[in-house]
Amino acid sequence: MNARKVIEEVKIVPVVKIDNVSDTIPLMNALCEGGIPIAEITFRTACATEAIKIASQNFGDKMLVGAGTVINAEQAKLAVENGAKFVVSPGFGKDISDVCVAAGVAYVPGCVTPTEIMAAIACGHKIIKFFPASNYGGVATIKALSAPFGDIVFIPTGGINANNINDFLAVKSIIACGGSWMVKDSLVKEGKFDEIVKICKEARAVIGG
Ligand code: 3PG
Repeated sequence: MNARKVIEEVKIVPVVKIDNVSDTIPLMNALCEGGIPIAEITFRTACATEAIKIASQNFGDKMLVGAGTVINAEQAKLAVENGAKFVVSPGFGKDISDVCVAAGVAYVPGCVTPTEIMAAIACGHKIIKFFPASNYGGVATIKALSAPFGDIVFIPTGGINANNINDFLAVKSIIACGGSWMVKDSLVKEGKFDEIVKICKEARAVIGG
């Protein structure tokens, strides 16, 4: 499964936080049923590694499972060892990049300045998470960055939802948007997986998917 291809097709990258590992399967099912077969499972909870493993083992053939909020090489190793097909970090980490390059797994670093983007390019990366998108100037900043970095594509994340996603997706260099609006903590914790399916379907409809 080519991570970039799937991300380009689906256009939405759900940023997922799993507190109870038993929520992994119903949550992955909900994302697939809702037509968004991607999960960026974040290292914001103790069970992230286990959740990535379970999601990869059970859904690896029908969805793109990746790791998010990866802030050091140790987490990157845990992510790739447990089946993550892409690794996302809030900033750029050379140590994380090294692990991903060695494993042949796509690395999507968070960059918001030209210097950060150049550091990512120097390590061979072309997909940038622009985060937190709304705080760093959103669409206007990404358009300005796309002039010198014509080869780079962006996944803006942070403050994006069904109301503004199309403003971002209208920009040529933006291949997808990330966000947590369809997988809100409260919905996962309360087991409202049907509601998650509904919000995912609405999001797909909004982007014309
Ligand atoms: C992330 O780490 O990507 C963000 O927490 C997602 O941002 P959002 O919650 O504003 O969608």
